[in-house]
This record gives sequence, C-alpha cells and structure tokens, in this order.
Amino acid sequence: MSRPTPTAGLVDGFGRVHTDLRISLTDRCSLRCTYCMPAEGVPWLPGSAMLSTEELVRVTSVAVDLGIRKIRLTGGEPLLRPDVVDVVAALAALGTQGDRPEISLTTNALRLPQLAGPLKDAGLRRVNVSLDTLDRDRYTQLTRRDRLPQVLAGLEAARAAGLAPIKLNAVAMRGVNDGEVVDLLRFAVEHDYQLRFIEQMPLDPGHTWDRTQMVSQTEILDALSAQFALTPIPGRGTAPAETWLVDGGPGIVGVIASVSAPFCGSCDRLRLTADGQLRACLFAQSETDVRTVLRSGGDDEAIAGALRACVAGKRAGHDIGDPDFHQPDRPMSAIGG
Ligand code: 5AD
Ligand code: SF4
Repeated sequence: MSRPTPTAGLVDGFGRVHTDLRISLTDRCSLRCTYCMPAEGVPWLPGSAMLSTEELVRVTSVAVDLGIRKIRLTGGEPLLRPDVVDVVAALAALGTQGDRPEISLTTNALRLPQLAGPLKDAGLRRVNVSLDTLDRDRYTQLTRRDRLPQVLAGLEAARAAGLAPIKLNAVAMRGVNDGEVVDLLRFAVEHDYQLRFIEQMPLDPGHTWDRTQMVSQTEILDALSAQFALTPIPGRGTAPAETWLVDGGPGIVGVIASVSAPFCGSCDRLRLTADGQLRACLFAQSETDVRTVLRSGGDDEAIAGALRACVAGKRAGHDIGDPDFHQPDRPMSAIGG
C-alpha cells in the first residue's frame, strides 16, 4: 500500500481539499445577460489563446490524478464549443474504472435540443440551466435575445435524454425578477427541476453592483415561505447551495448565498479558464498560467506544479464586504461560472 505523501492532493494553506474543477470551454455566448456581459463590444479571446481540447484534457488528467472528482463545464456558453461532445467523452474517460470523475455542465440550454442526447451518450451526468424568468418579454430584456421558448425546449430535451437531476439557476435581481420567485419555484416543482436562487455577485460588466440593492437569501426565503412550507435539508457538505424540501418534498429549492452567507470556508473548487489560466476563486486577483507550462513542453509534474501553486495561493475568502474589495478584471463569461 502506498503512503500518502505530504504533497499529495490539492490542499490549500487553510486545509481545504480541492476536488471540483470548473472548466470554461469558451468565453463566447449566445445570450448577453445584463449581469454578465455588455450588450456589445466584448473583447473575445483569440483562438490561439484558447486551450486546444488536447491541452485541456491533459491539464484535467493531471488534476484528476491529484484528486479532482467532479468536473463542471462552463463558459460563456459551453455548448458553443464545436467539439463539446468530444470534450465530454475524453473527460469522462479519465481516472480509473469505477472511479471516473462526475461530469456536469452549466448552460443556457439553447443548444440542448440538438446536443442533450449525444452529451449523455458521451458521459455527461447532469446539467444546470440558467433561467432567471418565465416571462418572455422579461427574458428578452434580461438576456437581450428573444429565446425563452428554445430554453424550455432545451430543458425538455435534457429530461428526455436522461440527464438528471436538472437544476435551474436563477440570479435574483431587484426590480427585475424579485417578484417572480414564487412562480419560478412553482414551475420548477411542477416540472421536477431543482431550482436554486443565486444572490447576485459583483461580476457585472458595468460595475454597478451595490450590496444594498442585492436581493438577499433572507428576502428570497421570506417570499417563498409565504406560499410554501420549507424544511431545511441538513448535510450540505461543500455545496454552495443550502437546500429546503418544498411542501414536504419531493420538490427541493436551494439558495446560493455567496454574498450574505459566504461558504468560502468549505470551498473545494478550482477553475480553468478557456485561455488556460488557473484561478483558485471567482474573485481571485491572480491566475496561474498553465498554458505557458503546456506550450513550453512542460511534463505532467510541471502541470501538477502549476495546479499546486494555484491552490497554495488561494485566499481565505472573497472579501466582498471589504472596503478594498476589487471586482475581478475579467467578466464572468471569461472566468466561468
Ligand atoms: N452573480 C451571480 N450569479 C451569476 N451568474 C452569472 N453572473 C452572475 C452574477 N453576477 C450565474 C449565471 C449562471 C452561472 C454560470 O452563474 O446565472 O447560471
Ligand atoms: Fe451567457 Fe451565462 Fe453570461 Fe448569460 S450568464 S451571458 S448565459 S455566460
């Protein structure tokens, strides 16, 4: 039996063990959600800056050797990557028989009608779909594209393909969809989707985020409790969402209170951007350049070194409440959700 060495695994200076890798497959998106992207003039990453599929699989393979067990594909919109099905197939084959990483994907669902089946066959386990409103006009305003019917078709395609559970992400926004939280939950429960409300984080392109304007977890729960009986589900572990049974179940609702009740202390997540930069946190001010390691002929040990260095530099928390907090330079679409 081999003894674990002190350098095994991706453990940071606070003892947090990293088992979850979020990979942004592209910074492009088919929507322009106001809290994420400007209407136009997005400075896209040039193709030569993006990791090839071979490169991203290589980094992920080393990460899996170092203890990564869950892989989430994000964007931008990950389904815009032309070879996304091949990416999933390659990542799902990592690890060893009986101990493969679990692959999930966060998407706006627009391409799920074509891709849900092939993705499931390639080894994708489940999807999280971003859906902030059920009102078509509001959806069009919020995403700057009139695509709500395609999203609903995408959700049905995910169900038909057997991707389960299907989770919905809704960012709560004052004066936009805060009056719709009950309707969203009713829709989710009726369709057997697991809805999670997300407190809006300071990642918007206009830097207009204001904590006093944010719709908080407390406010969301107050609105829901007026219509549903919510029973806390214990045993959250490292999950960002706190969850409740709705009216005794089986429906479940979650809230991701990244701002009002940060969960940084149990964070097990690490990010790889589409251009090959490792980030220990959404809000990290520095990145570890694994692309240069790859392209200068670095071996697996050098890639492992980059992963360890990134995790070693991880800070205790995001410090959103601090006076000297700075929004990351990159938009959410370039970091990956
Ligand atoms: N605050 C909270 N959540 C956000 N997302 C994008 N931008 C923000 C933000 N500023 C969410 C999207 C998507 C996931 C990738 O991240 O709704 O579901
Ligand atoms: Fe696209 Fe997601 Fe950003 Fe909306 S939140 S613009 S769907 S990347």
